[in-house]
Amino acid sequence: MIKGGRRLSGTCRVSGAKNAVLPAMAASLLAEGPVEIVGAPRLRDIATFSKLLGILGAEVTHGGGADGGEVLRIAPGDARKAEAPYELVKTMRASVLVLGPLLARQGRARISLPGGCAIGARPIDQHLRGLELMGARTSLSEGYIEASADRLSGAAVTFDMKTVTGTENLMMAASLAKGTTVLSNAALEPEVCDLARLLRAMGADIEGEGTDEIVIRGVRSLHGARHEVMADRIEAATLPLAGAITGGDVTAMGADASSMNAVVEKLRRSGAEVDSVPGGVRVRREGPIRSVNVKTAPYPGFPTDVQAQFMAYMSLGDGFSIISETIFENRFMHVAELRRMGARIDVSGNTAAVKGVPALSGAPLMATDLRASASLVLAGLAAKGTTEVLRIYHLDRGYEALEHRLSSLGADITRVKE
Ligand code: EPU
Repeated sequence: MIKGGRRLSGTCRVSGAKNAVLPAMAASLLAEGPVEIVGAPRLRDIATFSKLLGILGAEVTHGGGADGGEVLRIAPGDARKAEAPYELVKTMRASVLVLGPLLARQGRARISLPGGCAIGARPIDQHLRGLELMGARTSLSEGYIEASADRLSGAAVTFDMKTVTGTENLMMAASLAKGTTVLSNAALEPEVCDLARLLRAMGADIEGEGTDEIVIRGVRSLHGARHEVMADRIEAATLPLAGAITGGDVTAMGADASSMNAVVEKLRRSGAEVDSVPGGVRVRREGPIRSVNVKTAPYPGFPTDVQAQFMAYMSLGDGFSIISETIFENRFMHVAELRRMGARIDVSGNTAAVKGVPALSGAPLMATDLRASASLVLAGLAAKGTTEVLRIYHLDRGYEALEHRLSSLGADITRVKE
């Protein structure tokens, strides 16, 4: 429940990156000792992934470390299960990240094939083709992908498109394969680099991450490691946007400006001032919101995971903003909800034309996916009157206690138990 119209100001902390923690958790399946992930936030997706690792025989604890930060510890157990059941995969597609590690370490995996989701069809053909090139046999039975291999062998794999978890899955599998794997047209996302850093700490031989060619020389075994996870660059954009949409002044501590250049550039062009300050990024806006165009693209382009939040911001712009979504085919679910608040947005195919309005008005709204929920919260912060966002379990998948952090910045926002 949000009472809009308050200007946000102050400092808040950015959590560890969800999309770096999930692959790191999957990578723990490759290790012979415990993997500790420092800075893992309390998120639904991380709890779901912990459950999955538990089913696969690992022991997972999530608690406070000696330094006061949150540490997720994953110790390999004795059990050798290799199945990711439908009940979990259907709630979290990232479960597919266990495919490569299970196959590499245990020679087999049975994973429920993820179906489509709220934002698009999201096939995993690139993951499967890569593993097949490395010698895996795969088949589909009763909705499950069954894969097996005696030992994977290194291969040359060229992706048809940039895929983040596809690159991560193959990088993990290749770490224990026999020989050298070259991944071409690999994803450049900072989360891929974060995973490479962890795998190296575990003893893997990887180079080239952050470029579109990654070379992995397989090793016989990997050991446990302690890994400080990168800051969440999507949250690092969402929190300052919450400030900017209210004409506020918010500093996101822990944010790494160099990993969000595309967002910083659009914020500046919209009239916000963005400064790197020691340990964080400060964003403030005083004048009108200038409408700017945005086209999502793989990193280092504008992230699809910030598109919905930026659209909420542009709905209050001083002109027209054209927003194109090029990664997912159905990622405009927030548009119909924003319209209920008075936003003027027309959608044609993968393009939304946003005609800025002087004000939004609060309304009851339905969250449909993680980033759409964040966009509705941002709109609610700026709107006149009260906004009620339903189904906020979507928000809890990827933002830890967002309402607390926003209220510490001056927002009037509370979680209402039903
Ligand atoms: N694609 C295929 N075949 C494949 C793999 C991908 O056609 O085998 C297509 C997808 O359908 C999509 C495009 O390639 O059109 C890119 O998808 P990608 O594989 O990169 O997405 P992902 O790895 O499933 C990750 C993030 C998403 C984020 C995207 C894009 C994780 C766990 N998830 O998904 O995060 O939107 O990359 O940056 O890292 C979120 O956090 O809200 C979220 C959805």
